[in-house]
Amino acid sequence: MLKLSGAKSAKGELRVPSDKSISHRAVILSALAEGESYIREWLASEDTKATLDVFRLLGVEVKKRGKNLRIKGRDYSFLEPPKVLDAKNSGTTARLCMGVLATQPFFSVITGDESLRQRPMLRVVEPLRQMGAFLDGREKGNKLPVCVRGGSIRGISFFNKKASAQVKSALLLAGLRAEGYTEITEPVLSRDHTERMLRAFGVEVLQMEGTEGHVVKLAGGQRPVATEVFCPADPSSASFFVALAVLLKDSELLLKDVLVNPTRDGFFRKLRQMGADLSYENVREISGEPVADIYVRYSGRLKGVEIKPEEVPSMIDELPMMAVVMALAEGISRVRGAEELRVKESDRIKAVVENLRNMGAKVEELPDGFEIEGVERLKGSPIKTHGDHRIAMAFSVAGLVGEGETLIDDPHCVAVSYPGFYRDLDYICK
Ligand code: S3P
Repeated sequence: MLKLSGAKSAKGELRVPSDKSISHRAVILSALAEGESYIREWLASEDTKATLDVFRLLGVEVKKRGKNLRIKGRDYSFLEPPKVLDAKNSGTTARLCMGVLATQPFFSVITGDESLRQRPMLRVVEPLRQMGAFLDGREKGNKLPVCVRGGSIRGISFFNKKASAQVKSALLLAGLRAEGYTEITEPVLSRDHTERMLRAFGVEVLQMEGTEGHVVKLAGGQRPVATEVFCPADPSSASFFVALAVLLKDSELLLKDVLVNPTRDGFFRKLRQMGADLSYENVREISGEPVADIYVRYSGRLKGVEIKPEEVPSMIDELPMMAVVMALAEGISRVRGAEELRVKESDRIKAVVENLRNMGAKVEELPDGFEIEGVERLKGSPIKTHGDHRIAMAFSVAGLVGEGETLIDDPHCVAVSYPGFYRDLDYICK
């Protein structure tokens, strides 16, 4: 249990921890490649450590020195794991690893914690079966534990209706070892870190616009070659501090080295549309990804706004934080087309609606989002995180900008993406 109450202002400079999606992928691609890769500024969180542990069990040698890793790749030739692989709370670990395991001619089982064992897996299991791998699990393969026996697989053409980057990435990782081409079409481009990083590892990845959306395609049989990867600061982690500065009087923050890939920075763009005083400084490209320092300051009352289904993928993980911002904005705000929130680390639509109502906000639950009428102030309240890191962090910010006392029931869950979150909050809050 953690007690929070109103902060005066947020000031200073901060480099939030590195991007979780990129840190997972850096480990996975290094493990698949030929030769030794060097990963700089790697995020050591519960989720990314789960990925590292999976690959250690598959025979990958890892040397860790501070925030840097050296990984000796196995050129797609892993060892049969001697025990069940544990993705813990991490959907990215489970789903991307299934794509890799589908290429291996041995038996493996992957599971996760109570939350992950309730999340849908058929979205990856099904296309991997189509590629020729054997996968099975609880509820006909939809729930973990899932067992995999892979080997010789063939490329497929797949329509990624939910624009899930985890599904796309799993299929690309499998596709690299498949016969022929693997082609994925998505109605809206989901985060494209796998494509960008594959290129950094020397793989040719084709991208084009098709009649049904964005197409990504690669030829099987290509061998990724070891390289150096730099992991920028995580925009999802930065979003909590950006929101805090925007909402809290007299605040001014500079967030360093933040990933501003257009498939990830929808939250910042939307805040600007709502009237936030926010800018990207020193924009540059590192390891094939756009990075910037984000300058942000208190912006007065923001205007309510609408988030359309096609805008959701670029801010999917920031929607709990966005809901809090909307609850304090002027007028009506609405999020539609975000039904995926129901199958994240918790049902984030329910968690957001329940906690915001307890803080005095006016919120309506929709099947695929929420509608919020802004109020002038939020009041402190007990918060149920449901063990979900992003709910814990979003409502900690709500507690700091609200009146009275807020109690976070499980502050430790932030460790899956941001172990030092409360220490950093303490550092910048005056
Ligand atoms: C992720 C993709 C997204 C996101 C998750 C991380 C990734 O999930 O919500 O936090 O690293 O590929 P989906 O692929 O389910 O949309």
